Amino acid sequence: MPPPRILAFSGSARRESLNRKLLAAVVEATRAAGGEVTLVDLNELALPLYHGDLEDAQGMPENAKKLVELITGHGGLLIASPEYNSQMTPLLKNTIDWCTRADDNPFIGKVAAVVSASPGNFGGIRSMTLCRQLLTPLGCCVIPAQCILPQADKAFDDQGQPKDERIRKNARAVAEQLVQTTTKLAP
Ligand SMILES: Cc1cc2nc3c(=O)[nH]c(=O)nc-3n(C[C@H](O)[C@H](O)[C@H](O)COP(=O)(O)O)c2cc1C
Repeated sequence: MPPPRILAFSGSARRESLNRKLLAAVVEATRAAGGEVTLVDLNELALPLYHGDLEDAQGMPENAKKLVELITGHGGLLIASPEYNSQMTPLLKNTIDWCTRADDNPFIGKVAAVVSASPGNFGGIRSMTLCRQLLTPLGCCVIPAQCILPQADKAFDDQGQPKDERIRKNARAVAEQLVQTTTKLAP
């Protein structure tokens, strides 16, 4: 059986993004668990803020079409959801909103995992939970395993690697469940 294909992206496009670093750790664990991961940088698929008039005039932006194609071609999604004012970031929500404007909802039947990192003590748990809640009615099977990283500003070394084995352990738990569930449900 071919390895399950997982598409990974982060809701922060910031160069030194903590969520990008956490995502990288989970991506590494997902590859180690047997998943074939495509890591997408949303800087490279920039989208305008969703506006119905813009959509009426121009249709879906090319970058949204590219992302929809990528989602369609993968069985699993691995999303890092940073937290702004207890919510998901506008970047992540806008990206998902555009993708749902495709003729066929690309999220149906995808297996999804969500992780979050924050310098605060709650590790982005509210954003992670909201992102999970958003993905479920879109048709994703969101896996039970979760990974939040509080005080993430102290969690990585100069190379962006996790300093603590506990972070790797949590990343492995999410990665293994994502790979196993995608293999079963969306091979
Ligand atoms: C507008 C704004 C609101 C924020 N609100 C929260 C918040 O509610 N909870 C939290 O844990 N962190 C909050 N933060 C801090 C972010 O978690 C922090 O900037 C984090 O580094 C963003 O993720 P990134 O490093 O992946 O870019 C906020 C940051 C910004 C810019």
